[in-house]
Amino acid sequence: MPRPASIHVCSACGHESARWAGQCPGCGEWNTLVEEARHATTPAHAAAPARPTPLSEVNAIDHARLRTAIGELDTVLGGGIVPGSLVLLGGPPGIGKSTLTTMALANLLAAGHRALYVSAEESAAQIKLRAERLTNPRALSIPVIAETDLQTVLATIERERPAVCVIDSVQTLHAPELTGAPGSVGQVREAAGRIMQLAKARNVAVLLVGHVTKEGALAGPRVLEHLVDCVLQFEGERERTYRTVRAVKNRFGSTDEAGVFEMRDDGLIEVLDASARFVGEATRGPGSVVLCAMEGSRPLLVEVQALVYTSELVPPRRVVAGLDRNRLALVLAVLARHAGIGLGAADVFVNVVGGVRVDEPGADLAIALAVASASKGLALHSEQRGPVACFGELGLTGELRTVAHSERRVAEAARFGLEPVIEPAHHATLKSALREARAAGDRPALAA
Ligand code: TYD
Ligand code: MG
Repeated sequence: MPRPASIHVCSACGHESARWAGQCPGCGEWNTLVEEARHATTPAHAAAPARPTPLSEVNAIDHARLRTAIGELDTVLGGGIVPGSLVLLGGPPGIGKSTLTTMALANLLAAGHRALYVSAEESAAQIKLRAERLTNPRALSIPVIAETDLQTVLATIERERPAVCVIDSVQTLHAPELTGAPGSVGQVREAAGRIMQLAKARNVAVLLVGHVTKEGALAGPRVLEHLVDCVLQFEGERERTYRTVRAVKNRFGSTDEAGVFEMRDDGLIEVLDASARFVGEATRGPGSVVLCAMEGSRPLLVEVQALVYTSELVPPRRVVAGLDRNRLALVLAVLARHAGIGLGAADVFVNVVGGVRVDEPGADLAIALAVASASKGLALHSEQRGPVACFGELGLTGELRTVAHSERRVAEAARFGLEPVIEPAHHATLKSALREARAAGDRPALAA
């Protein structure tokens, strides 16, 4: 009987078994067996020893970056794609991963770099339809293969020797020596590993597209995050116009940067002054407040909206979009305990407008003010002053806590005449902040 091309290895204890089983025969853990290709291994004693080099004699990587000419993307990457590096672009279906990578390749091609687009999801005709919508006519010159077989893809990269290659997506590639379905952990790990070896050997920069689940994890292959040099996350909802790309890992740059994009008919457009957009579009009704947030190292003004309504459910609904659900729970508890605004019998919805995610404690005060304003049905905005802007973290004793980059947040608000900003520098407690917010509205009655 021929040796099977793959084995199943327990990710908890390393036990190897020929067949897959739900429970590891070695350690008894469930669902830990992952299929792996059986590679020919060389015994360690046969290898020549490597010679260690003092760091002072190591040549620094020449960071001749491949610029995608999509400013926001280049910034997030740390100045462009590093040759020979592996970038994982994760995001939910429909967010624009294929669009962004196609646009990047078109620009790189126009700059004289060799490019290759491997589509393991769509036919060449479908990719062409997308390319035809884009403004850069070079999109139609991108060399494309529609292929799911890993060996064929590797052989093609080997022959074409592109400077940059897009693999769309890593979850639909198929390594025939593994029996698992495309997208399974074993398959994805094998595909990414083999691609990485080739990419490093031939100095091909690879953009791996990966799907993420609802929970935000890259479906199956969390393993990939360790393997690749850079992990970009494409966030936002497909129904909404605005999307952000942020780096969650970057071996060649900071993970502080994020870029804001807008999906238009002719592709993704960078939103260069996102604050202006969001403030301009801010509604002025009850439940709305402007948050001075930080998007990476840049200040960004976003509108936070809340809706509070008598619940018919026990427990009542707590729904957030663009925020951390636990922060809402905390803010509601602090509102009840320290500001006399108890919403135990109400559904509470809180939303960051425009599909932006604000994952920072600095959003607490905005959540609190929006919820208070919504629950009282009173707008915080006034004719003379315009929208109310705020930021700050809430402590469990009802105190307001300072957050990073206060000056930059205030300065960003000042650009739009949003002054004074309700923030920890002026208020020690949530109660005091609520009092100022109440006074800001046209009808000063947001009383606890
Ligand atoms: P797509 O890049 O295919 O998303 P993903 O690869 O992440 O699944 O594009 C997503 C949506 O964007 C798709 O529904 C069509 C729309 N779209 C535009 O609105 N404008 C465009 O120029 C393009 C190319 C797509
Ligand atoms: Mg796609």
